[in-house]
Amino acid sequence: MTRPPGQGSTPDHGARVIVTGLVRRLPQGRVLVPAVNGLSITVESGEFVALLGPSGAGKTTLMRLLGGLDRPDDGNILVDDVAVERLPGRAAAHFRSGIGFLTERSTLLDYLSALDNVILPISASRVDFSARMRARDLLERVDMGHRAGVLAGRLSSGERQRVAVARAMISRPRLVLADEPSGGLDSASAEEILRLLTDFHHGYGMTLVLATSDSSVASIASRLIRLRDGTITPARSAERRRGTPPPAPVPRLWAVPGQES
Ligand SMILES: Nc1ncnc2c1ncn2[C@@H]1O[C@H](COP(=O)(O)OP(=O)(O)OP(=O)(O)O)[C@@H](O)[C@H]1O
Ligand SMILES: [Mg+2]
Repeated sequence: MTRPPGQGSTPDHGARVIVTGLVRRLPQGRVLVPAVNGLSITVESGEFVALLGPSGAGKTTLMRLLGGLDRPDDGNILVDDVAVERLPGRAAAHFRSGIGFLTERSTLLDYLSALDNVILPISASRVDFSARMRARDLLERVDMGHRAGVLAGRLSSGERQRVAVARAMISRPRLVLADEPSGGLDSASAEEILRLLTDFHHGYGMTLVLATSDSSVASIASRLIRLRDGTITPARSAERRRGTPPPAPVPRLWAVPGQES
């Protein structure tokens, strides 16, 4: 049985992601066009990588493949030695449950409270007292503790995205995939979401892949991968210089409730 990234342990280290020769063709009219076209990348454990590219570059397609939400037509994806593209249905669902997903308009259920939305990804397993405590703690960390009982439908878009960040962290993911997480937000809310992601990355040491078409957003990552027409374009020389090796294991800035040593 494959272990989903991050489940069962605090992610002091993130998942290692190795993508080789990835191809995904999608229909455009009567023809299939490669949205991801022979792409190979390695993201080291605990790295924070930005995928930067214009609209249509293939960022979302790639993120969906990395998260096991879609299957490639060719190529391989290894996440912590799990061949994602080969996982059968139930194992794929199990794998996905251990990944933190964040999208531009992250879907919260309007008729559930902020707290219940955070708990939702783990509701298939036993939600015990410590899981509820962890959800409350995560809401505090995204400065939404005071809104825990409010229905998601009554929250502003910035507040909703902060709850979505807490929800993405509930399974203690070793891999977080954030696709335009600050898109569509006012600049203060956008800055707050990016700060929260950076803080969680520093605190938990998970691997973080952030897709964006905004170079200023991408600049917060420690490595930039430029994407265009489904392939990687060479980094500019300044970016190559800026590229940092994967970080050493980071000290945890906070304890996860129920996991204090
Ligand atoms: N469901 C789909 N069916 C057919 N073609 C699709 C589908 N989703 C995406 N595409 C096409 O695949 C290519 C890559 O799209 P993708 O959404 O991955 O780009 P993106 O970089 O995420 O763009 P954006 O910045 O606008 O979100 C585009 O040409 C797009 O039209
Ligand atoms: Mg996209």
